[in-house]
Parts: sequence; structure tokens; C-alpha cells
Amino acid sequence: MIIAKNVPELRAYLAQRRAGKRLAFVPTMGNLHAGHLKLIEVARRLADMVVVSIYVNPLQFGANEDLDSYPRTPVEDCTALEAQGVELLFMPGDKEMSPRGRAAQTFVEVPVLSDVLCGASRPGHFRGVATVVNRLFNLVQPDLALFGKKDYQQLLVIRLMVSDLGMPVEIVGVDTVRESDGLAMSSRNNYLSPQERQAAPRLYAVLGAVRERILKERVSPADAEPEARVALEAAGFRPDYVSVRRRDDLGVPAPADKQLVVLAAAWLGRTRLIDNLEIDL
Ligand code: PAF
Repeated sequence: MIIAKNVPELRAYLAQRRAGKRLAFVPTMGNLHAGHLKLIEVARRLADMVVVSIYVNPLQFGANEDLDSYPRTPVEDCTALEAQGVELLFMPGDKEMSPRGRAAQTFVEVPVLSDVLCGASRPGHFRGVATVVNRLFNLVQPDLALFGKKDYQQLLVIRLMVSDLGMPVEIVGVDTVRESDGLAMSSRNNYLSPQERQAAPRLYAVLGAVRERILKERVSPADAEPEARVALEAAGFRPDYVSVRRRDDLGVPAPADKQLVVLAAAWLGRTRLIDNLEIDL
């Protein structure tokens, strides 16, 4: 596997080796787990060449968030990517990604969708994500790019950015990979204490209960949401939000809407976990 650490190295490799190949791109922040490996596996099925990036993007972390403590495991990540047959890994530094520095940074903003749910609790987060993904797309020029559905709102923000800016990239959403007890794979699971780790799968269980209440008992989203909050609190979480939304734009659903998703973000101690579950009425 070739590791490109700057833009000229990336461009030189792609100029030499791409030659008409369909290129799939998997952007990551590293600390790779089975969820990332699934993205790569799907990418390999859909394309002739897979490029992965690892960049812990400072633009998407708020001032009091976990940028400094975010897990960084480059040696293990490279071993895992080699084993997956990844051809090219792009591992830029801050200078490659923000050449004129933070103060002079050009941003990409996807309004409205970026301001609700996780965007309401993490102001500027999706602006940071859209900005870095836009630059990565411009550098790698993929035919398709893969994102996990665990970060459901992120997936929709990227889809909107690509559509609004007419970017020639197909965005593929890949199902969440879970531990055997249901907990969605996430680098932030590393922060959980053993006791918190035991409680963590309740998040998925509560989302499952919301889905059952809506599907089988025909409870309205407006009634299911407060019940879910109470259930999360009883399991030791501090819920940020639990919300049933339209799947295509995360708007508040009307009775006629059939394709829904229940999304939640909740704190367990100092760890903020997110998860979601699709609901087909
Ligand atoms: O999902 C992530 O790991 C990040 O938000 C992404 C898409 C790599 C952008 O930094």
C-alpha cells in the first residue's frame, strides 16, 4: 500500500495508476474498526480501486470537544488497510488540508440540515465536515464515496453538498456495523468505562423499542419520543435528543410520511454516543 502524505504525492500516484479505473473513496478519521472495514469491503465490490484517507479534522470539533484525546492508531490502521488490499492511503497533515491556516479557511456550508439535531448541539460541526470532505473530494476526485449510516445526518449533509454543488460523486450509505450486543461500532466507544460499556447497548435497544411502538402499536412519534427519553435516563444516559424524522431530509414527519428514521444522541458519563434506526411504515 502506498501512503501519500501530501497533495503532490497523492496526485502523482493517481496520475500514474488510475487510468480509467472506477475509484471508490472512503474518508475516515482513523482508529479503524469493523464499521470502517465494511465500508472498504463494499467499496471494493463497487469499484476497481479503493482510496482511503485518515485525517482527524480539527474543523469539525468544537472548542471543548475531544480533538486532542480522539484515538489515533496509525500503525494498526495501516496494517488493517494493507490486509484489506487498499492500494492508496492519503494521510495529510493540517497544512495539506488548510493551506492558508484556520483563520483564512474557506468553508462549505449546508444550511438548515446542518443546524438541527447533532448540528444544534455541535454548532459548526457539519460545516467542518462538509468543508473537509469537499477538499478531499477535489483532491481524490472519486467516482463514488462511502459513508456509514451510523452518522446518518452526516450522510445527508454530504449528499446535499454534492447535489447543491453539482459534484460528480456518487454517495453510498452503508449499514451500521454493531457489536454482538447491538452497540454501534464507533471510535468513541473506546472512551467508555467497563460499567458504561455494559449500559451502552441500551441506546440501540431504546431505538428498537421506539420502532416497535410506532410500527406495531401505532403510537405517534410525538408520544414515542418522550417515552424513549425516560427509558434512556433510566439506563443512566443524559439524552441530548431522541427524535423521529423523515428519512430523506430529517424534517418533522407528517402522518402521510412513511419512510422515517429515529435518531438519538446521548451522553454516558463523558462520552457522547449517537445511533439511529430506519422505520418503514
Ligand atoms: O465520519 C468521519 O469519520 C468524518 O466525519 C469524516 C467523514 C471522515 C470527515 O472528517
